[in-house]
Amino acid sequence: MPLKSKPTGKLISFEGSEGSGKSTQISRLAAHLQKAGREVISTREPGGTEIGEQIRNIIVHNSKGDEMCAETELLLFTAARAQVVREVIVPALTRGAVVLTDRYLDSSTVYQGIGRNLAADPVAQINRFAVGNVMPDLTVVIDVPTEVSLARIRQRASDLPDRMERENIDFYKKIREGYLVLAKGMPDRFVVFDGTLSLDALEKKIWATVKERLA
Ligand code: TYD
Repeated sequence: MPLKSKPTGKLISFEGSEGSGKSTQISRLAAHLQKAGREVISTREPGGTEIGEQIRNIIVHNSKGDEMCAETELLLFTAARAQVVREVIVPALTRGAVVLTDRYLDSSTVYQGIGRNLAADPVAQINRFAVGNVMPDLTVVIDVPTEVSLARIRQRASDLPDRMERENIDFYKKIREGYLVLAKGMPDRFVVFDGTLSLDALEKKIWATVKERLA
């Protein structure tokens, strides 16, 4: 179900490498927005719905995960996205809520397109099919040097690194570069933030930008 008319809600996507600090900043931004009287819905990709969580499990933890080809990976990520758009995002935007999503279509463009070398056109078409006309009003990219991002991944309390996190340093360099190139090409939608700032400093900068965009 695509959006029929321009909704009063806003969709803000957060993008960046693993360990960039997206989830911390999403919860801090949610608190600011709630204090300002907005309804806030936070969701994450892949997941955010029961169907999406099941798909996420196949992608991230499946024991046969290493045999998964890039095309399957793209279709699974975008399948989870199609579901969350229709089940969660569109109803929330229609109600006037601010939706914060931890990753959205740009993750497929960057991880599957650039990281896994899938051709850009089919990735863009499949992405478009999944999201319909539900595009972010703002995309926050939290940029960190690859070495910092890898060090943060290793420090995470979790046990074994998951499937995506086992990728090598060159892969993550491509991901970082991919986001920066994408952001440069679409300056109206993207804002890049320095993820090496302190959590508080970054929170302030993101809130200032969001406030301005919502006004
Ligand atoms: P997850 O642990 O859920 O999130 P994060 O690392 O962002 O905190 O892992 C999601 C992984 O899936 C992450 O490595 C990025 C990857 N991914 C893609 O490759 N393509 C996509 O379209 C999406 C949404 C995620």
